[in-house]
Amino acid sequence: MSKKRVFSGIQPTGNLHLGNYLGAILNWVRGQDDKDNIFCIVDLHAITVPQDPKDLQKRIIETAKIYLAAGIDPAKSSIFIQSSRPEHTELAWILNNFTYFGELKRMTQFKDKTGVQLGRLFQLPDTRTLSSYDRSQLEDIIRHIETEWKNSDTFRNQNKRKEETVSVGLFDYPVLMAADILLYNTDEVPVGDDQKQHVEICRDIAERVNKRYKEKVFVIPEPIINKESARIMSLTDPTAKMSKSDENDGSRINITDTPDAIRKKFARAVTDSGSEIKFDVVKKPGISNLLNILSSITQKSTSELEKEYASKNYGQFKADVAEAVINLFEPIQQKMAGLNDKEVTKILEDGAKKVAPTARETLERVQKTVGLGI
Ligand code: TYM
Repeated sequence: MSKKRVFSGIQPTGNLHLGNYLGAILNWVRGQDDKDNIFCIVDLHAITVPQDPKDLQKRIIETAKIYLAAGIDPAKSSIFIQSSRPEHTELAWILNNFTYFGELKRMTQFKDKTGVQLGRLFQLPDTRTLSSYDRSQLEDIIRHIETEWKNSDTFRNQNKRKEETVSVGLFDYPVLMAADILLYNTDEVPVGDDQKQHVEICRDIAERVNKRYKEKVFVIPEPIINKESARIMSLTDPTAKMSKSDENDGSRINITDTPDAIRKKFARAVTDSGSEIKFDVVKKPGISNLLNILSSITQKSTSELEKEYASKNYGQFKADVAEAVINLFEPIQQKMAGLNDKEVTKILEDGAKKVAPTARETLERVQKTVGLGI
């Protein structure tokens, strides 16, 4: 049986961090031998928000070095830059015509990036702690807040102003991502939880095309999401995702951070009241995040780790998580330092050449199906 085709990518923006590493790269590396892999540096996605051209160039090379140093082997996986294959944007244009405006407008990431943040306008009805509500009560409260907020003049006015200045590229971003995936007849897309919705819309678009032309134009891809590393949270606010764009550098561990910086960031990481090392995302989001991090690295389950740390305190636990991350990133940093830009550029060019025939073949098949040209 032929190997499953895997496709995934990362935007060369900001500092790549522990979330990107555990949520995406580590899973790519772990599955590399059993799959037929394509890993892309998605620079066209990066320009959906303003980028400094020199900085973008630097980050493209740095991202490629991270892929290589983390263990992506060019003999087993193709690595290339998205903009070096014109088929991505050509297919995206065709797919735009099979995508609905309403569907893109509902994308959570688009709403997060453009929508106005929910203000602290409402309070819970009494002084009970959050954990004393059951799920359905909390869902009712959230629904109520959302409705009130969306009906408020503040929301409508602020949202209107924001929408006026949001780029069409940012809006259309999931369609370009669908093109990336579908061009290569991808079976599996290993990503973090925040990209799940984008893979789902890709599936919807592909199924729509297949249905319309009554043939298997596209392979329908599956998102592959690892439970423990699906959503690595910010170290300063464990209810928010660790993110490249957070202004507070202490909120994330960058892959290029020094051991000292890593120790300090974990030592300052927000933990929860109490002293027990227990996995409970509602009551102990900070400790649960650290357990998820350690579990993803050691491949031990969080309950195994709970037992291991039953008699230890937060300080010892945080120090151990820091050392595990240092041991993970130190060899990557050393390998990165040994890679020169010229050899990396050559690997990216070779990767683009290797994927070209599949990209061309898919695009031509789609053009023919749709009836373009003569
Ligand atoms: P990007 O660059 O935002 O993130 C790259 C990968 O890292 C994952 N990730 C996380 N995982 C766990 N915890 C976190 N805190 C965390 N933050 C980020 C993301 O889920 C992602 O897997 N649109 C994509 C790039 C893309 C792509 C594609 C991915 C473009 N075309 C085709 C797969 C297939 C993005 O912006 O990822």
